[in-house]
Amino acid sequence: MNGTCFSAETTRAEALKHLVEKFRCAELEDPGREARLALCAAARLPPAALIAAPEAPLGAAAARLEGFATRRVSGEPLSKIVGRREFWGLALTVSRDVLDPRPETETLVEAARALFADRRLDQLRVLDLGVGSGALLCALLHEFVNARGLGVDVSAAAAEVARRNVAACGFADRAEIRVGSWADGVPGPFDLIVSNPPYIPTADIEVLSREVRDFDPRLALDGGIDGLAAYRIILPAAARLIAPDGLLLVEAGAGQAGAVMAIAAKAGFLELSTDRDLAGVERVVAARSPRTVGGCHLEGGVGLERVSAHE
Ligand SMILES: C[S@@+](CC[C@H](N)C(=O)[O-])C[C@H]1O[C@@H](n2cnc3c(N)ncnc32)[C@H](O)[C@@H]1O
Repeated sequence: MNGTCFSAETTRAEALKHLVEKFRCAELEDPGREARLALCAAARLPPAALIAAPEAPLGAAAARLEGFATRRVSGEPLSKIVGRREFWGLALTVSRDVLDPRPETETLVEAARALFADRRLDQLRVLDLGVGSGALLCALLHEFVNARGLGVDVSAAAAEVARRNVAACGFADRAEIRVGSWADGVPGPFDLIVSNPPYIPTADIEVLSREVRDFDPRLALDGGIDGLAAYRIILPAAARLIAPDGLLLVEAGAGQAGAVMAIAAKAGFLELSTDRDLAGVERVVAARSPRTVGGCHLEGGVGLERVSAHE
């Protein structure tokens, strides 16, 4: 189905049918879902409107939909086309400057909830290294309602997207986003340090799907020769910044969890464990602070003072 598919007179129902067919021919994984999302975004409609008024004509949305469909079948992810992505139930803005937040990264948020179940109301100090869109930081601030967070990214453009998302989620007064390289110049301590660093071995980037290779920023993907370069910087820095009783959670690529645990152990972290994602991949490495358990270790910092709701 080539050429123009949609005109101002095309009804929403006809457009949806065309679009599902077009996406099916392009072998998209879930053509029905993507077609509905694309149509709603182009027509600026809530999903219910497709059911409530299927015979309404597209009008001015026709040209937008045509553009969306062409870009999608040529390999651009829908999230980057419509500029939106849902993560942990939060509607986030995404752009070409940030990694498209992945469902498997929600495994890290689940691990934080489980391992810090008794600290849900604490005024935790959270550090997210490589904050990107802010997906992880926003999800953690959503779950830990009294937490305050610092997100760092070396990309100023990514940091700007994170700031927008933090504000849109209502967390502007509990979060700070900085531009910088990993933990350089970041004063601790932090109760929860998280990171989903770039972990693709450089040579593997060329064989990634086009959606990832051409539309996620290289800075968000390239983990150096063996994919582990960022962990060798982040984990020793995190060991210095983490508070007593603190928790470290990092995402790892498929097959990397063992190597990441070894780096964490060398940095002094204790009680190493992993969590699997829905595909069964060991996706998250968790570890406890190398510092003495108990007591409160405050060294100034970024205004993220720890006050326990249980104290
Ligand atoms: C895989 S993305 C993760 C983004 C986001 N946290 C998420 O989970 O969707 C890695 C992020 O690390 C950032 N990054 C790469 N090198 C960095 C560095 N030296 N210092 C800080 N951030 C860096 C990239 O710009 C990118 O936003």
